[in-house]
Amino acid sequence: MQPNAGNILVSGGAGYIGSHVALTLKQAGFTPVVLDSLVKGNRWAGEKSGPFRQGNIGDAAFVAAVCDEFKPIAALHFAAFIEVGESVAKPDMYFANNRDNAKIFFETIASKGVGNIVFSSTAAVYGEPEEVPIRETTAQKPINPYGQSKLEAEEAMRVVPNVRSVALRYFNVAGAAPKAGLGETHYPETHVIPRIVLPLLDAPAVLLDALGLKTGFKLFGTDYPTRDGTAVRDYIHVLDLADAHVLALRYLIGGGTTNIFNLGSGDGFSVSEIVAATRKVLNRPDFAPGVAPRRAGDPATLIADSTKARSVLGWTPRRGIEEMIASAAAWHRTETYVNTILTKAHAANS
Ligand SMILES: NC(=O)c1ccc[n+]([C@@H]2O[C@H](COP(=O)([O-])OP(=O)(O)OC[C@H]3O[C@@H](n4cnc5c(N)ncnc54)[C@H](O)[C@@H]3O)[C@@H](O)[C@H]2O)c1
Repeated sequence: MQPNAGNILVSGGAGYIGSHVALTLKQAGFTPVVLDSLVKGNRWAGEKSGPFRQGNIGDAAFVAAVCDEFKPIAALHFAAFIEVGESVAKPDMYFANNRDNAKIFFETIASKGVGNIVFSSTAAVYGEPEEVPIRETTAQKPINPYGQSKLEAEEAMRVVPNVRSVALRYFNVAGAAPKAGLGETHYPETHVIPRIVLPLLDAPAVLLDALGLKTGFKLFGTDYPTRDGTAVRDYIHVLDLADAHVLALRYLIGGGTTNIFNLGSGDGFSVSEIVAATRKVLNRPDFAPGVAPRRAGDPATLIADSTKARSVLGWTPRRGIEEMIASAAAWHRTETYVNTILTKAHAANS
């Protein structure tokens, strides 16, 4: 067994991205200590790679007790609500959790001597960007409470005394680690790749019904000023994202200064191109998605300029779009995935 390179707090580590990062941390020799309230996450994911403690990041006494128990050398902060549409309907809930609870978390861990924080931020802080590819210096003008609450949390983190921090602004995260028993398990599921893939997997009708996917996948908007009329996004495999977190952690532990990095592949794929890749990966040449009007607030093109993460952190994304689709499909076929979603749907409806 390799020696422990240090205990790392992972808030929100029972969720999609945090659980994959915890796995990667463990493989890199660190001990992830997961804190999660399970408001959205799953115990099986939180317990996968290290100790798990259930509680709220806004509960200072709980966070302090976990710090006393494990003496972490750094924290990775994933815990947040992530649904753009829900944030428009319930902005107060998003500011209370994503900004105010995050602030309590940052201040509490700093008071316990945790001076290195890596924060999950988002391309949503750029809103409808003034330039593409988007750089870290591109104006930050969020167009929904989700993006605004994440931007304000970034700012709150940067003013905590005695803390050096990295904000990682992710673009579209996809893919899974099915062999390790991890994958995206959101309910509801709003992300493009699961929504394209799931109706093609012979999934139980009750599952598709629970996710609102009974009528199959629809292209929202085919008249964008892009190469084929559908919206272009920058997709990044969750395990490439996890590698970036380990590099950001090592950067801070090595004395790196407070910084911000965009994380995307730098390659844009249109929704029609994702559909074409899915036909190939799943061997479903017959797959013909429906068409619906554009959704309000969906920009035509979002592509990251990740030059800074590549040059400062030495990060290189390695996994392409076909691997994202194939690993997502393998995960969505697992009993763990299907049973978890059905349990969540049952709880929501009872
Ligand atoms: N999924 C994406 O494509 C994406 C893109 C950009 C940024 N992000 C950011 O990445 C982070 C993780 O996203 P995800 O997709 O893994 O979401 P997720 O919902 O799967 O995971 C978030 C986890 O945080 C937990 N949590 C929420 N509030 C909490 C609280 N107050 N106390 C303790 N635990 C709490 C939830 O139970 C859940 O397990 C978020 O901060 C999100 O803003 C995600």
